[in-house]
Amino acid sequence: MPYVATARGDLFYTVSRGPKDSPTLVLVHGAGGTRLHWPAGLRRLPEASVYTLDLPGHGRSGGPGCDTITGYAEAVAAFLHAVGIELAIVAGHSMGGAIAMTLALDFADLVAGLVLVATGARLRVAPAILEGICSNFEGTTELITRFAWSSETAPRLIDLGRQALLEAGPDVLLGDFAACDRFDVMERLGEIEAPTLVVAGSADQLTAVKYARFLAERIADARPVIIEGAGHMVMLERPIEVTKAVQDFLNVGSVVRAQSAGTSR
Ligand code: COA
Repeated sequence: MPYVATARGDLFYTVSRGPKDSPTLVLVHGAGGTRLHWPAGLRRLPEASVYTLDLPGHGRSGGPGCDTITGYAEAVAAFLHAVGIELAIVAGHSMGGAIAMTLALDFADLVAGLVLVATGARLRVAPAILEGICSNFEGTTELITRFAWSSETAPRLIDLGRQALLEAGPDVLLGDFAACDRFDVMERLGEIEAPTLVVAGSADQLTAVKYARFLAERIADARPVIIEGAGHMVMLERPIEVTKAVQDFLNVGSVVRAQSAGTSR
């Protein structure tokens, strides 16, 4: 399993290579997450070359975390450069979606398409989370866990999610949520030209489904997929439906054309 050296530290990633000339998909996890927050079926999608990375300070990657979305977007841009990807479809969950949108806005040449999962153009964070991470870290990971999953989720999955937040630690988690809290591209969505898939759970308590509808309305070439009853961790709660939505999106002509017009590997 490879590491790649970047200006933002050594970043850990996995790659599942698709057929020659298939699109390149890069999966970016959310606050306090790791690459394992993406379901195995999506990380190994047969129709694409799929790169899944741990952001700086997360999972097996080195370096400190960031406290701005721009910082993380620069780290992902450095990752793409370091592994030789010139053009990718970037998928992001929650904070990862903010990073993906920032790449589409400020590093547009790198982005052939976007998959925005359980995210929004503004991600204000409840003060109970921001303050609680400093004053009562374990209790706050419990609070986040309670809001992150739909009531129908298997307890084992919820336990793994709670464990990941604890392993991220208070410094990285605070930086991530501070970055989300500062993020706001509500007025800039009209600048996004990349074909975009917006995926959301109707029961999401951390990024309301209203945020997804806003994205789908304001991004010119966007299609929404709302998954009934799913919560914020929609891609782990309902992996088959989310993977199918991404597969269908990759099969849309405009996405593949946008990618083949570039010089991706
Ligand atoms: N897309 C569309 N609309 C959005 C939006 C987005 N991404 N973000 C905010 N809005 C809307 C809100 O729905 C609200 O609309 P309303 O006035 O019609 O009710 C308005 O913009 C202002 O909302 P917001 O910027 O969030 O400020 P606030 O002071 O009303 O609420 C919080 C602040 C923190 C209480 C609230 O954002 C919240 O409950 N957040 C969810 C919990 C959380 O911490 N999530 C973590 C995200 S990483």
